[in-house]
Amino acid sequence: MLVNILLGAIVVSAHPSTRQNSQVAVVNLGSNTGSPKHLASGLLYGVPVEPDQIPDHFYEDMGFNYLRAGGTHLPNGNGGRGWITSLEDYQIRMDSAISNLNTCQKYGASFNLLTADIWGDDGGQAADSKYPGDGGDWSDYDAFLTKIISDIKSNGPTTGLTIDIWNEPDYGTVFWNRTQEQFLDMWGWGYARLRKELPDVPLLGPSTAYYPGLDNAWWTKFAAYVKSNNSIPDEWVWHMELGYGDMETTTEDLHAVLDAYDLPRKPLNINEYATPPEQTPVFTAWWIAQLERVNARGLRGVWVSAAQVFDLFGGLISKPNADNDKYDPEAGGYYPTGEYQVYKYYNRNMTGNRVATTSSSDRTVDAYATVDKGHAKIIFGSRSVSGTAFIEVNDLSCLGLPESGTLDIKIWAFPFPNGRFGEVNAPVDLGWGQQDYAGNSATFPVYPQDDVTAYAFEIGAK
Ligand SMILES: *[C@@H]1O[C@H](CO)[C@@H](O)[C@H](O)[C@H]1NC(C)=O
Ligand SMILES: *[C@@H]1O[C@H](CO)[C@@H](O)[C@H](O)[C@H]1NC(C)=O
Ligand SMILES: *[C@@H]1O[C@H](CO)[C@@H](O)[C@H](O)[C@H]1NC(C)=O
Repeated sequence: MLVNILLGAIVVSAHPSTRQNSQVAVVNLGSNTGSPKHLASGLLYGVPVEPDQIPDHFYEDMGFNYLRAGGTHLPNGNGGRGWITSLEDYQIRMDSAISNLNTCQKYGASFNLLTADIWGDDGGQAADSKYPGDGGDWSDYDAFLTKIISDIKSNGPTTGLTIDIWNEPDYGTVFWNRTQEQFLDMWGWGYARLRKELPDVPLLGPSTAYYPGLDNAWWTKFAAYVKSNNSIPDEWVWHMELGYGDMETTTEDLHAVLDAYDLPRKPLNINEYATPPEQTPVFTAWWIAQLERVNARGLRGVWVSAAQVFDLFGGLISKPNADNDKYDPEAGGYYPTGEYQVYKYYNRNMTGNRVATTSSSDRTVDAYATVDKGHAKIIFGSRSVSGTAFIEVNDLSCLGLPESGTLDIKIWAFPFPNGRFGEVNAPVDLGWGQQDYAGNSATFPVYPQDDVTAYAFEIGAK
């Protein structure tokens, strides 16, 4: 045994130019991490108010399962600013949210109602706009909640509904231009009423722009408050839109806050993820691997022009004239993009059970993998890394393969021609590759053809 271990060490160090200088994502086929629920298949906005404008198969193929919206940027300037401008404006936004809720219910998806939108807190409202609790008076916020609760109840079942109490209250003065104390009072006030009057509806938050951590004073203050006020959110939410950071680190940092304030672990929800340069096939695959590893729901951020916010699944699908001034929010002719194909493969093809994977030590390269009846499927993602990377696959005998031999690998590419306006109807079949292996483990290279294309690798008995 001792000899074998030493030999193994020598073998690894004998190839410094390949493995040591490169990023390696590892897949452990023997380590079942549960059923795939395609946790990353959620959207921030992107669903039209008009029911059935986007054909069913676009929702179904990507495994659409979560939407967050509240009426900001409705087409044609509808909706004014919501509650802060008039009851009519409130109603237009609320009706759009109810329509989106009903669409979600049709597909068995959850709907996260963005109450800050209904209020009119868009980040571009007048500098003197009101906020809940101004001057210590909660009657206006109470009237707002009363109206929301009554509109929700009169719509019918609340299946799939979750409520986001506010959006990015920590992001400078953009979405909350008052003190954190006033925000916390609103949280406690809103939470108590919504919990009492909509007891089956999960309440989420705090949906911060900045990541949780003991070094984030906003978050630690929030943690102390919800503990003492007994208003603990049903899902812990923050956004991953700063262009850096990863799910493993931010989840550990959240747990440090929860432990320090004696707060319970709850489901994780990243109800905005991925910046514009991160919305490519290969980066999407990286996000999928990251979110799945920590079992976090993920809703893809939206960075399209204001006129397109209620269309195009936030840029995952497109249609004629989407890239020019003849764009019509109500037109049809939808087609999928290259990025959409990643979500489709993730939902439709990555069946069976998930298996454990690890990202490269610098976390720039990652993999998500499933095993179904002796077949493994692996998607390779990265933070747009262009050099050669490697995937190490362990426990090959789980697929009924011998402990050594030559591995046949089916390869698919997910290119991104013309970005979010390019039509891509299927991944590209790159045929088969072979890799010799021993010791029940194979390591094969990935040679990215550019910094946007994702790849899938399929192995197992043919
Ligand atoms: C926040 O409020 C201050 C004081 O009323 C105002 O000058 C500023 O423009 C406001 N900022 C935003 C983003 O609304
Ligand atoms: C939480 O804070 C709100 C707002 O101050 C208050 O109305 C509510 O009673 C508090 N709840 C508890 C359990 O302290
Ligand atoms: C994914 O699965 C579907 C349904 O089984 C199949 O038709 C399609 O060819 C598969 N796609 C790939 C890229 O293997």
